Amino acid sequence: MDTPRIAALYGSPRRNGNTARLLREAVAGARGAGAPVEEIVLRDLKLSPCLEIYSCTQDGECRIRDDFQRVRDLVLACDGLMLASPIFYYTVTAHTKILMDRFHSLWVKKNWADPRPNPIVSPRRKGLFISAGATRGKRLFEGSLLSVRYFFDTLDMDLWHTVLGRGLEYADDVAKHPDYLEEARRAGKELAEALRGDAPAAPGA
Ligand SMILES: Cc1cc2nc3c(=O)[nH]c(=O)nc-3n(C[C@H](O)[C@H](O)[C@H](O)COP(=O)(O)O)c2cc1C
Repeated sequence: MDTPRIAALYGSPRRNGNTARLLREAVAGARGAGAPVEEIVLRDLKLSPCLEIYSCTQDGECRIRDDFQRVRDLVLACDGLMLASPIFYYTVTAHTKILMDRFHSLWVKKNWADPRPNPIVSPRRKGLFISAGATRGKRLFEGSLLSVRYFFDTLDMDLWHTVLGRGLEYADDVAKHPDYLEEARRAGKELAEALRGDAPAAPGA
C-alpha cells in the first residue's frame, strides 16, 4: 500500500481531555510517518441513536439521515482507524456508543441483506483504540475492549493495538504522563508504517 489513509475519531465530550490529547499524539505520529489523517470529533456531529427500525435489512442502508452517512463513508474508505474514548461506567462514552450502534446497519448488510464483500474495503484494515480512566483496577478496560473488538470486527478491522491510560481523571492529567503521550505517538507512527507494510505487523516489535 503506498499511502494509507487513516481516520481518527474523538469520542470524549471533552475537547481537550486526556483521550483527545492522546489521540492528537497518535495523529501526529501517523502524519509524521507520511499518512494523511482525517479527524472527526463525535460531539460536534448530529447523530441519532439507533432506533431499531431495521429497514437496513432491505439493503444495509440506515434510514435515519444525519451525519452518520458521512462518518460511515469515511470509515469504510480508510485503511486504519484510531478511536479514542474514555471509560464511562466501564464502557465507552455515549457519543462513541451511538456511533457503534449506527454501524449495526453495516453488520446487518454483511450478515443479512447483502453478504458480498464490500469492494472498497481494503483487506488489511487495522484499528487502534485509545482510552483513559480515573481508576486503576485491573478490569478497568474490559467492557470497552469487548465492545470495541466486536465493533472493529463489524468494520472488517483487527483491534491491532491499544493505548490505555489508568489514573487519569482531570482533563490535563495526561500531561503529567509523558510515557502515555509517547506511547500514543509511537502507536500512531507504527500504525501508519504497518499499514504501508514496511513495519512489523505487531506494534512495538
Ligand atoms: C459519566 C462518567 C463516568 C465515568 N466512569 C468511570 C468509570 O467507570 N471508571 C473510571 O475509572 N473512570 C470513570 N470516569 C472518569 C473518566 O474516565 C476520566 O475522567 C477520563 O480521564 C476522562 O477522559 P477524557 O478527559 O478524555 O474525557 C467517568 C467520568 C464520567 C464523566
